[in-house]
Amino acid sequence: MHHFAYRDGVLHAEAVSVATIAETIGTPFYCYASATLERHYRVFAGAFADVPSLVCYAMKANSNQAVVATLARLGAGADVVSHGELKRARAAGISPDKIMFSGIGKTADELALAVDEGILCINVESEPELTSLSTIAASKGRNAEKLLGIRVVGIDLHIGSQITELAPFDDAFAVLSRLVRELRADGHAIEHVDLGGGLGIPYHDGSEQPPLPAAYAEVAKRATRDLDCTLIFEPGRIIVGNAGILLTRVLYLKRSETRNFVIVDAAMNDLIRPTLYNAFHEVRPVKEPAKGASRIVADVVGPVCESGDFLALDREIDEPSPGDLLAVMSAGAYGAVLSGTYNTRALVPEVLVKGSRWALVRPRVEVEELIARDRLPGWL
Ligand code: LLP
Repeated sequence: MHHFAYRDGVLHAEAVSVATIAETIGTPFYCYASATLERHYRVFAGAFADVPSLVCYAMKANSNQAVVATLARLGAGADVVSHGELKRARAAGISPDKIMFSGIGKTADELALAVDEGILCINVESEPELTSLSTIAASKGRNAEKLLGIRVVGIDLHIGSQITELAPFDDAFAVLSRLVRELRADGHAIEHVDLGGGLGIPYHDGSEQPPLPAAYAEVAKRATRDLDCTLIFEPGRIIVGNAGILLTRVLYLKRSETRNFVIVDAAMNDLIRPTLYNAFHEVRPVKEPAKGASRIVADVVGPVCESGDFLALDREIDEPSPGDLLAVMSAGAYGAVLSGTYNTRALVPEVLVKGSRWALVRPRVEVEELIARDRLPGWL
């Protein structure tokens, strides 16, 4: 569910017309609804309210400070995968004791930062990383248990993303729970299990819905019932995916005998998911179409000179006119965080709406700023 709906014939984010935002800041831009963010966090965390649990929002899905701060205020922790995300989590007000550090390639500097910050846990993902962490922790005077400087407190798994069935979770949680028993038998005091992220979201209007958090929670709780562990989760997409849309303006309609193209001002540098993962995003007109308005089958493409520059392929949509605004739905997760400036296009801005208020939470990084970051060497 989400809080983007037509009011008086115009798409609104909560109580704000996205057309008004477009008039003010131009296009393209990402727009997030606080109400959706908050609801999704509450529903997910609420599903585990009856067991010791911590929801560490996976910052990689959307690490805008305003998004993270919104979740932090509701009690969210953070799952970070880099020095940058750790800094962002701290800057958004998440306390170290709610931060997990995941990722297979943490550098020595990142491990040192995590130790210095005193975060809740580092998810060690290989033996060499364990050695490296042990050396770093011991050099900082940390001293515990068998591995110098390290205390084994839990185990973590993450089996994938956009998972739309419960069976894979069920299987994985069973393996994890066996492992906890084995580790305890070996004398490790396992206090928590981190069940990762990965619960999928609906991307298609009206298509089958992925399991709700309550059903997922039932599976997780059943598998871990006898473990006496705190449950930690690292959800990203389920929290922010449907809470964001990408707004774009139609530049041209180009028709050929075999294909129609709707050329818009957002491109693969702004939202790379369609071309990178063949991902599907609904495309909706901002102006509510009249009943019986004509529809066309078209490719919705951006201005970048690459055949991979598309937002939708072979899609039946309401026939737009140049100048019309379109909303690319469900773009809150892995959208803005994966955006770039290819073709020297300004970095796409982000807007957060709350009720009838809205704010620019990342201004557009203009072309002049991009050029100014380059340096000419002395010999030129
Ligand atoms: N924890 C770990 C260790 C992860 O690697 C991920 C995502 C998550 C949690 C969060 O998973 P989620 O709840 O969001 O499914 N860029 C891709 C998705 C990559 C996901 C990578 N790992 C996309 O746009 O679909």
